[in-house]
Amino acid sequence: MGQPMTTQNTESIGVGVIGCGTISPQYFRNMPLYPGVEIVACSDLILDRAKSRAQEFGVPKACSVEELLSDPNIDIVLNLTTPNAHAEVSLAAIAAEKHVYNEKPLTIDRDDGEAILSASRSQGVRVGCAPDTFLGGGIQTCRRLIDAGDIGRPFGATAFFANHGHESWHPDPAFYYQRGGGPMFDMGPYYLTCLVALLGPVQQVSGSYTKATDERTITSEARYGEKINVEVPTHVTGLLNFDSGAVATVITSFDVWASELPRIEIYGAERTLSVPDPNIFGGPVRLKRGPSDEWTDVALTHPEGGRGLGVADMAQAIRRDRKSRADAELANHVLDIMHAIHESSEQGSHVNLTSKCQRPEAIPPGLPLGEFDA
Ligand SMILES: NC(=O)c1ccc[n+]([C@@H]2O[C@H](COP(=O)([O-])OP(=O)(O)OC[C@H]3O[C@@H](n4cnc5c(N)ncnc54)[C@H](O)[C@@H]3O)[C@@H](O)[C@H]2O)c1
Repeated sequence: MGQPMTTQNTESIGVGVIGCGTISPQYFRNMPLYPGVEIVACSDLILDRAKSRAQEFGVPKACSVEELLSDPNIDIVLNLTTPNAHAEVSLAAIAAEKHVYNEKPLTIDRDDGEAILSASRSQGVRVGCAPDTFLGGGIQTCRRLIDAGDIGRPFGATAFFANHGHESWHPDPAFYYQRGGGPMFDMGPYYLTCLVALLGPVQQVSGSYTKATDERTITSEARYGEKINVEVPTHVTGLLNFDSGAVATVITSFDVWASELPRIEIYGAERTLSVPDPNIFGGPVRLKRGPSDEWTDVALTHPEGGRGLGVADMAQAIRRDRKSRADAELANHVLDIMHAIHESSEQGSHVNLTSKCQRPEAIPPGLPLGEFDA
């Protein structure tokens, strides 16, 4: 990293939100819970949307994207736009010498992911990316169990996300069925980021995909009855080979009406670890030893937390000049895995990954919410 922006240790790091849609209230609500970060402005292509969020959540300023990017009080741009705008907004923020934290996925295309990494390096700013659920109490407790050797050598994992899509609740769901959407790009980041946080980076993948229907009908209120063309695979399966030698089986689907599959399980030589839903921050965390009949509930060793933990960790990383945990290298590796699963299905062969990342550092236990360094 070149010349990181300097912010005094005692000052809050200013955050400017771009994109004030469906997910934004979670960030507006949570960010005040974390020390050392403060939302100082928000913007949206639809300015009235930004104004009404600012009023609802007491944000001092709602403004255009250009004005937000030139505001000297903003150190981190929180990019909550739809995936098709992630690259454009992130690159504009980097060009304005802002650090950026993106909603997931990092971008739609691999080239844009690489362009963001390279621009951030040459501009000397940081880029982070959701999901940050792996920083929550549930998955950090799992990480601690694995690192302590409680399950023995982890050799395998399963990760399953299966539902029937988002058009029954999201007010504007078409993007989930267009390029950059689909269950793997939408939900895969939660499952794959969790697996990489627990088991480390992936070397090689294979995949197979299909779709159940070519058209979906919106049943949420605003656009009730409108049809959506399904332009992407909506049932996507993959096999992952980790650097560590572990192997994972992954299913993501928007085509399944009902399922009793678990979310994530990690199989160790001595025990099985039941990992909580990686789209939430809490438990339950459960362990089961080979011949025993009962699962044991494990108390969480870290505070639960919520969306925005990754931004708070990034702010502390800027202050302490250390690597942030939910960073763009991790997100870019996850993006690479998701593309490779699709490519493997199209090519009928395994795909070797070229992207690299480090397994993010575990958070020490016993710290208050929003603190990450012992
Ligand atoms: N909705 C969820 O439950 C949810 C959950 C987790 C993550 N996410 C992620 O959050 C992101 C946003 O999703 P959402 O559901 O809030 O979408 P949304 O469509 O409800 O909101 C996106 C907002 O971004 C604005 N926008 C789009 N392009 C822009 C640009 N170039 N400049 C400024 N503003 C722009 C839009 O006007 C809109 O208000 C996506 O990356 C999605 O994957 C969504």
